[in-house]
Amino acid sequence: MAKILVLYFSRADENYFPNGIHAVAEGNTAKLAQAIAQAAGADIFEVKTDHRYPKAYHACTEEAKKLLAQGYRPKLTADCDVSPYDVICVGYPMWWGTMPTDLMAFLEQHAADFASKKVLPFCTHEGSRFEHSLKDLKHLLPRAQILAGFEMYGHVAQDAELLKGQADKIERFLSQVK
Ligand SMILES: Cc1cc2nc3c(=O)[nH]c(=O)nc-3n(C[C@H](O)[C@H](O)[C@H](O)COP(=O)(O)O)c2cc1C
Repeated sequence: MAKILVLYFSRADENYFPNGIHAVAEGNTAKLAQAIAQAAGADIFEVKTDHRYPKAYHACTEEAKKLLAQGYRPKLTADCDVSPYDVICVGYPMWWGTMPTDLMAFLEQHAADFASKKVLPFCTHEGSRFEHSLKDLKHLLPRAQILAGFEMYGHVAQDAELLKGQADKIERFLSQVK
């Protein structure tokens, strides 16, 4: 039986939903990460950094855009040894067509530890799907074996009932390594 880790970055506070902008206590990717970890019987780790994003949605998108363009890398405030795991599910929200720089910082620092690991990417978004993030992921983890990814609308992940309805898709995603 493969030993699986679900590793993710997610942001709470104000975000964009089809019915408007409002605040959530826990991010969309966090909810999806928990569902995946539960379905896989996996350990779970949230990437955290010293960077605090604005709580307001538009201020956050503008700041994230600037940090991405600058190639900014925040300092990690927690660490995780990925070496005991055979499979690592890597999850993130879609930010400006790619993953947040916080997750980039983690992956860059641990790239060597991902050598020969199976990586299952997953993301939440509001329309962009994976956009160019999978290309970026391959670039960040050149020695990992990156398998087919799984994407979901963030507002679906946020809603417990809608998320339950995605259980089959989560199972199919995990069947790549089970
Ligand atoms: C800074 C920022 C940038 C975003 N950029 C995109 C984007 O390029 N494409 C997209 O479909 N959604 C975008 N979104 C929406 C998020 O991807 C979506 O709400 C996601 O589910 C948020 O996950 P989280 O709650 O785990 O952070 C953006 C949201 C934020 C806050």
